[in-house]
Amino acid sequence: MRDIRPVMSHRAHLPPSAHTTFVTGGAVVCSFLPRPLEQDEDAMRVPFYHRNTDYDEFIFYHDGDFFSRDNIKAGMCTLHPRGIHHGPHPKALANQKKKTQTDEYAVMLDGLNPIHVLPAGEGVEWKEYWMSWMEKK
Ligand SMILES: [Fe+2]
Repeated sequence: MRDIRPVMSHRAHLPPSAHTTFVTGGAVVCSFLPRPLEQDEDAMRVPFYHRNTDYDEFIFYHDGDFFSRDNIKAGMCTLHPRGIHHGPHPKALANQKKKTQTDEYAVMLDGLNPIHVLPAGEGVEWKEYWMSWMEKK
């Protein structure tokens, strides 16, 4: 990760696939690294809402401030199975223009075959993760 220079765009937010670092027959690995954020006034500075149709999406959050995901800290992982809509949390959308750069290190593995959580992973699962997209009152 130290040797990778991230792709940057000052006018429009790039899709995660722009950060692809490895491709195999069954998976794609993307590396998210510190970089300046988009500068255009109307540009999104967080990932847009989407759902994967062909891949399960597993992300390991290694270090930094993962501001697009509320309550996600270093050492945590998320799994978004194919077909499930996801994107920035409401707080991240509201605060996206307050940041000029990201300092996060994360690795995403998009698996062509379904990614199954083993019992050890289920033991530490944050069962309310899906609720983190709900507006807090
Ligand atoms: Fe995604």
